Amino acid sequence: MPMILVAQVSDTHFDLGARNAERARRVMTFLDELRRKPDVILVTGDITESGKPEQYAEAELALASEIPVCFLPGNHDDRTGLRTALLGEPAGSAPINRVHRVGELLLVLLDSSVPGAAGGQLTDDTYQWLREVLATAPTGKPIMLALHHPPAPLHSPIIDEIALADPERLADLISGDDRIVAVLAGHAHSAATTTFAGRPLLVAPSTASVLGGVWELDPPDHVMDYAPDPMIALHVLADDARLTTHFRSVPLRGRISVAPV
Ligand SMILES: [Fe+2]
Ligand SMILES: [Fe+2]
Repeated sequence: MPMILVAQVSDTHFDLGARNAERARRVMTFLDELRRKPDVILVTGDITESGKPEQYAEAELALASEIPVCFLPGNHDDRTGLRTALLGEPAGSAPINRVHRVGELLLVLLDSSVPGAAGGQLTDDTYQWLREVLATAPTGKPIMLALHHPPAPLHSPIIDEIALADPERLADLISGDDRIVAVLAGHAHSAATTTFAGRPLLVAPSTASVLGGVWELDPPDHVMDYAPDPMIALHVLADDARLTTHFRSVPLRGRISVAPV
């Protein structure tokens, strides 16, 4: 199996302001200019700040790429807005669950958003859909699951309150399935890794801001840090199905050249 490179971009929060759009554009340019381009760019939710059609229009422009891009909604998104602007589909409020094949890798996108709520939950239909996807997916081929809300606590005073509800239900469904190489999430605005159901849980940082952990100052003194450069995750699935993740900050002012060592 040839190497597969999955770039994960998360929590762009397009809000009609210049700042977040510029940061997302910079990240997309960075990915496009890589010597080895990603096979897919996965955007794991909170694409917009408040789900407005004009914000999706902004996202549609900024996130356009020759590289295939796939999208998941977050708690700040609107399913109809996402469907019509980014997926080219008719309006509709059903969960946006999708599979994408990337070579031998199956990317399974689960919609954990709950309209009108900050916390995440998978519907009964989504669980049923996932059961069917796993039942029909090829044996011996790698699978990555992605959803906006992390299904495990991250020691984030804000996010742990609004993480995925009933994570054990998801864990029961996937534990023991050796094809699943990782679970990918966003929402936390922090590059973080832990485990879930015996698998790596890889949380992509936000391109817009960084959210402090419990070891930092108490909210609201230190909630969002807007100073750091935008960050992304690069997941490398090697020939032997070993997964390696690099978290990368993308300088806003172009590449810094370094002398060879
Ligand atoms: Fe977010
Ligand atoms: Fe979120």
